[in-house]
Amino acid sequence: MRNQADPVDGAVTVRVPAKVNVQLSVGGRRPDGFHDLATVFLAVGLYDRVVAAPAPELRITAEGLGVDGIPLDGTNLAARAAAALAARYGLEPRVHLHIVKDIPVAGGMAGGSADAAAALLACDRLWGLGASAQELRSVGAQLGSDVPFPLLGGAALGTGRGDVLTPLEVGGSFHWVFAVADGGLSTPAVYGECDRLRREGGDGDLAGQVPEPAADPGLVEALRSGDPYALAGCLANDLQAAAVSLRPGLADTLDAGTEAGALAALVSGSGPTCAFLAPDADTAAKIAATLGPAARVALAPAPGATVVD
Ligand code: C5P
Repeated sequence: MRNQADPVDGAVTVRVPAKVNVQLSVGGRRPDGFHDLATVFLAVGLYDRVVAAPAPELRITAEGLGVDGIPLDGTNLAARAAAALAARYGLEPRVHLHIVKDIPVAGGMAGGSADAAAALLACDRLWGLGASAQELRSVGAQLGSDVPFPLLGGAALGTGRGDVLTPLEVGGSFHWVFAVADGGLSTPAVYGECDRLRREGGDGDLAGQVPEPAADPGLVEALRSGDPYALAGCLANDLQAAAVSLRPGLADTLDAGTEAGALAALVSGSGPTCAFLAPDADTAAKIAATLGPAARVALAPAPGATVVD
């Protein structure tokens, strides 16, 4: 723990979930360097908290899982979120953001984006701005492709860079296990490796050479039905080969979870966290026990960023 915040009168606390991409279809590289996506986000019950308190100037502190890996200056995505929201309203970002981390850092579960989303909601409440949910999502989209979704939670199709969201219905609870790897993977590096593997395979890597990504109707229906067996048959991540290429040990982790009873396994987002879909809570606990102390069990869907006491 470092720089733990003292409780402050008037502080606003927001709880925000992690995500797993149950579908991540990646189009070709665009002229702006991004990739068009068709991705289905599912919010999962691993949560960070962000406490926003009045302060003379913008200040960031953090405690919890993996905090040595996050910057505590103006480059922190949560700090940039507070600054962007303040600037939009012609304010100075006079806030102390204290981040309590439980989502793996640089793990492919959008932990940094979740903190930025939480900071937007917490600062909106702290400063009494009354911004609409759509407005917060639009400020979030300028900060990163994954920032709007944690504000929404549940499940959603993401198109464009992944930031244009269409909510999806989820008909039941899904049991997940997440194997958190030591050390993160850089998202741009994983996209770059995906491009490299495509060029090497002779398919080309540019928009126009790669098929336009589209949502899988079977997966959308599997979420709606709440059937884990149906969902297991549809899980797909175009970044998985790239993540495994950069971190070959992930292949063994994926195999170990499957052998322990997972219905399906995939790399979460750009990795290196591996995600396992279990048929029920008992099997999820068994898979987690097999994978070791770094494995986490979580239910989905989880609600989006929420102000809590
Ligand atoms: O939007 P975000 O800041 O999360 O993206 C981080 C990096 O991931 C981008 O700079 C880009 O290299 C890559 N990326 C991409 N296509 C996307 C989303 C992210 O190439 N749709």
